[in-house]
Amino acid sequence: MDFKQAFRQLFLFTFFIVLLTNTLPTTSQEVDDEEEFNYDLDGEKGPAKWGEIHHEWSACSNGSMQSPIDLLNQRVQIVSHLGRLNRSYKPSNATLRNRGHDMMLKWEGDAGRIHINGTDYALKQCHWHSPSEHTINGRRFDLEGHMVHESSEGKVAVVGIMYKIGRPDSFLSSILDRLQEINGTEEKETIAGIIDPRQIKIGSRKYYRYIGSLTVPPCTENVVWTIVRKVRTVTRQQVRLLRVAVHDESDSNARPTQAINGRPVELYRPKDEEDN
Ligand SMILES: *[C@@H]1O[C@H](CO)[C@@H](O)[C@H](O)[C@H]1NC(C)=O
Ligand SMILES: *[C@@H]1O[C@H](CO)[C@@H](O)[C@H](O)[C@H]1NC(C)=O
Ligand SMILES: *[C@@H]1O[C@H](CO)[C@@H](O)[C@H](O)[C@H]1NC(C)=O
Ligand SMILES: *[C@@H]1O[C@H](CO)[C@@H](O)[C@H](O)[C@H]1NC(C)=O
Ligand SMILES: *[C@@H]1O[C@H](CO)[C@@H](O)[C@H](O)[C@H]1NC(C)=O
Repeated sequence: MDFKQAFRQLFLFTFFIVLLTNTLPTTSQEVDDEEEFNYDLDGEKGPAKWGEIHHEWSACSNGSMQSPIDLLNQRVQIVSHLGRLNRSYKPSNATLRNRGHDMMLKWEGDAGRIHINGTDYALKQCHWHSPSEHTINGRRFDLEGHMVHESSEGKVAVVGIMYKIGRPDSFLSSILDRLQEINGTEEKETIAGIIDPRQIKIGSRKYYRYIGSLTVPPCTENVVWTIVRKVRTVTRQQVRLLRVAVHDESDSNARPTQAINGRPVELYRPKDEEDN
């Protein structure tokens, strides 16, 4: 085997590996390593640089359908064809983890699913960003919860719920003790026990729908987004408890809003609910 031939084989091999790592469903998983990126806007590992940290994260800087976005009234098309959210969740064993950039509640067993346009997406985990990542008419809220679902083919669907400061959220109250256990520096993960996802309240039938991406590296695209229209409430203390996970100076774990690039954004409103 001469040099040229060896080089060619090496090239093909590398190409194959790159192809493999780019097509495996695991690339849609969110990155758990807290040290690799942060939310420091001017920093080396900040949102503007995520796409340069790893080749597999390039969508963070050159993707064309990134999340979050501003849900601007003028851009939104009101529709009724999407239908009510079809969710069938059930209680299942979960663990709570401080990932360094957020708190994540991860169901170990079958926690049920959401059905969107002919596809079933199983509920995997939920986590929180503060302040909110999506904005409505430019307004940012205090907290945003993401319920992350995945289909058997690795397609991702996220349901986002926004909160402003007010009365306590009953679901967060119910996991308060668990959150306190991992608020510090020692314990990173705790067994949360049986958690019922049906207790994560939505309180509205209206929702926004658009196609975007994960809001953390690798910023994988073609994520089906559902953002609940109603803004719910949490207390400052509840937000603070979810925020202790964020270790860098920015004290925020919200990615800045991204360009729409002409993407359609729909707002589902039931036919029998014309007002409010
Ligand atoms: C982004 O850039 C990377 C590396 O330069 C490239 O492999 C990838 O195809 C690009 N993605 C898009 C959506 O342009
Ligand atoms: C829940 O999960 C934890 C750790 O993953 C395990 O130790 C515990 O036995 C599980 N409990 C149930 C009821 O399955
Ligand atoms: C709701 O989802 C289930 C599967 O999860 C599906 O069988 C059913 O047809 C869906 N209902 C509607 C009205 O789409
Ligand atoms: C629903 O799924 C069909 C078939 O996969 C696709 O052609 C269509 O664009 C989807 N509709 C929406 C609103 O996502
Ligand atoms: C974290 O937990 C410790 C011990 O339970 C408690 O003293 C402290 O106030 C908690 N911090 C927050 C921000 O809740």
